[in-house]
Amino acid sequence: MKICIAPGDGIGPEIMAEAVRVLKALDLKMEFEEAQVGGCAVDATGDPLPEASQKLVREADAILLGAVGGPKWDANPREQRPERGLLRIRKDLNLFANFRPAILYAELANASSLKPDIVSGLDILIVRELTGDIYFGQPRAIEIRDGERFGFNTMHYSESEIRRIGRVAFEAARKRNKRLCSVDKMNVLETSQLWREVMIELEPEYPDVELSHMLVDNAAMQLVRNPRQFDVIVTGNMFGDILSDEAAMLTGSIGMLPSASLDENSKGMYEPSHGSAPDIAGKGLANPLATILSAAMMLRYTFSLDEHAQRIENAVQKVLAEGYRTGDIYEPGLKRVGTTQMGDAVLAAL
Ligand code: NAD
Ligand code: IPM
Ligand code: MN
Repeated sequence: MKICIAPGDGIGPEIMAEAVRVLKALDLKMEFEEAQVGGCAVDATGDPLPEASQKLVREADAILLGAVGGPKWDANPREQRPERGLLRIRKDLNLFANFRPAILYAELANASSLKPDIVSGLDILIVRELTGDIYFGQPRAIEIRDGERFGFNTMHYSESEIRRIGRVAFEAARKRNKRLCSVDKMNVLETSQLWREVMIELEPEYPDVELSHMLVDNAAMQLVRNPRQFDVIVTGNMFGDILSDEAAMLTGSIGMLPSASLDENSKGMYEPSHGSAPDIAGKGLANPLATILSAAMMLRYTFSLDEHAQRIENAVQKVLAEGYRTGDIYEPGLKRVGTTQMGDAVLAAL
């Protein structure tokens, strides 16, 4: 098992250290190689994904990434932005299927910004398309037109791109509660009209799955009105980015939301859904649980080590039940801890 570790920027190295400690404690035959991706790579080489890192991510069976980006690089040209490193890995490795499970641990019912009776038992899987859409569409630029600055991007999807993410989502729904909600903006966008047509064409192949459709603005509203109506949500890259941050908050904190980005086989990149949290970086305050849970997803999806993944997930559940809380999920009366102490607690629970 060759695992490429890319801690990245901001809180990335802090949360990654805890995830690696947890993985090492499992005593599996794993080889770790560290790659510079993001702002740290820009500082060292001028490129957010230098040649050496490209080689490491290509050769690994799985990649565990912390987070990239920060204000330090915000004025950089696009190709030298930390986020480009991440986007290039997704595209180069064809990691088109992004799984973002939003699960409310019962212990965190009060940490959610919604009332406990609305979110209790919440278990949603967002399947986000990750290598297409307006994120990668050409042409894109800021240029001068008619004497003023003019910015544009291109949103596009081919039917084969929609079909392959649709199949992944139908399969995922089949293994869960068999309800799939496809989210689009077909009332306005051609891309979305095609998206909906292709989803409807796939439906007969999965007679056991109930397919529904929702416009993205309504979906954003329904997620906070009655989130438990959803089982699996499938959507494009941009809508999925936004809706998954929203869904994260239902579970108490974005510091709890892991993710898996998969190709057609079992290769994957695993990362928390949150960013580099510049506001708390370097302070030992970040919640490492999303990264630790991403490591569990890696064991399950790339290495088929379900039992080991479950062990990590059970350990996370246990530390929450024992009352350990980083600042983002803290409630008075419970044990407020920092990043390393949270890692210690998970190790003890393992
Ligand atoms: P962010 O997710 O970094 O932070 C949003 C808020 O959530 C902040 O208040 C932060 O402190 C908090 N937060 C995030 N993760 C946390 C954790 N583990 N524990 C406790 N609190 C946590 O989003 P942002 O501020 O919009 O973006 C900051 C930078 O991160 C930007 O440069 C952005 O491009 C980058 N980013 C990277 C990724 C990634 O690497 N996958 C994802 C999102 C954003
Ligand atoms: C995410 C992030 C990334 C995205 C950025 C950092 C490129 O927000 O993984 O959700 O927009 O996909
Ligand atoms: Mn995002």
